[in-house]
Amino acid sequence: SGLITIDPGFKNTGSTKSAITFLDGEEGILRYRGYRIEDLAEKSTFLEVSYLLIYGELPTQSEFEKFSRDVTTHTLVHEDIKKILDGFPSNAHPMGVLSSMICSLTAFYPDSLDPNRSAEEVNLSIVRLLAKMPTFAAWAYKNEMGHPANYPDNSLDYCSNFLKMMFALPAENYEVDPVVAKALDQLLILHADHEQNCSTSTVRIVGSSQASLFASISAGINALWGPLHGGANQSVIEMLEAIKADGGDSKKYLAKAKDKNDPFRLMGFGHRVYKNFDPRAKIIKKAADDVLEKLGLENDPILAIAKELEEAALNDSYFVERKLYPNVDFYSGIIYRALGIPTDMFTVMFALGRLPGWIAQWKEMRENNEPIGRPRQVYTGANERDYVSMNKR
Ligand code: CMC
Repeated sequence: SGLITIDPGFKNTGSTKSAITFLDGEEGILRYRGYRIEDLAEKSTFLEVSYLLIYGELPTQSEFEKFSRDVTTHTLVHEDIKKILDGFPSNAHPMGVLSSMICSLTAFYPDSLDPNRSAEEVNLSIVRLLAKMPTFAAWAYKNEMGHPANYPDNSLDYCSNFLKMMFALPAENYEVDPVVAKALDQLLILHADHEQNCSTSTVRIVGSSQASLFASISAGINALWGPLHGGANQSVIEMLEAIKADGGDSKKYLAKAKDKNDPFRLMGFGHRVYKNFDPRAKIIKKAADDVLEKLGLENDPILAIAKELEEAALNDSYFVERKLYPNVDFYSGIIYRALGIPTDMFTVMFALGRLPGWIAQWKEMRENNEPIGRPRQVYTGANERDYVSMNKR
């Protein structure tokens, strides 16, 4: 065991070489395939960014039209998957429902289990995933609400179709608000990839055993679910709402976060890699102001508490010394909330955004023929012992 280095949480261990996402934590730089996140968030669309991440280049007009058409063609899901959905109690967390439905695709497309499929066949699975994920996400929400599920509307763009499946009710006319669709599209771009984070590493390590793409992505969704990862966006809003209900005293919660005897952490603060600022948080903070103003919600008390809390933390030596800054999740929940997305769907929204990144990383790992992921350990248990029969213990 002298040869084995232990690195809990892999803080200093690289697991792979990757050509997808560049991240400089000191400088606060994030680029997908070389393109600045700031440019992509402002100028691109989520589907275009998905293409970029997965295939390595921005698409030409005709490549993009074909890709959009392919994705649109596959938005419908097998009716039997609805039976699986119907079996979930309405209080099931939508993340569990989503990962189950994604994994169920292995049953509906058993050819996806063959690790030796051609690139075209793999590509069909990729397109299916991108197409069906919004349908599953919206249906998980409908199940929770006890509302009838809506079928996809293929005349709409990716985000508008998702919003319509989420919010349209049979008795009402639903028109997608372009401000809401645009804001959602931008949030998904900002979440689309983030190199070897917990869920992405999960996708790669599950895929490294040559498990199917669907099974690997389902595992990634489960890894994302935890409050220290994607679940943080839900925890942030719950925290802000608790502060509001408690009289709006953000200083009290700051003190709790600093107290080492209190497990409470300031949710949406801190990052394993970013030590100066999270470039996504910068964009999202501005977007939160813009979107809430456009929707007439600029006086949202939760937004005010978030800003007060951020200001207080950034001037507090505990947070300054530990280089803790707001991360992508600090303001994203405020926007999702303003768009009408319920709190327990926030992490599902993160999964929707992260999907192309997971796919790109899975594809890269397989194309590079990476070996099975299998970390080592240092054993610290008992030395060899003789078996003691039960009547003598
Ligand atoms: N509130 C209070 N103290 C904190 C926080 C926080 N949010 N984050 C880190 N610290 C302290 C921590 O207690 C430790 O202090 P000390 O050195 O005195 O023991 C120090 O800062 C270093 O923290 P760490 O836990 O060793 O750092 P890490 O790299 O293992 O964890 C993190 C990174 C993101 C899990 C952590 O900062 C955290 O728990 N943040 C809150 C949850 C959150 O917002 N997660 C979303 C991350 S970004 C999106 C995503 O990945 O999904």
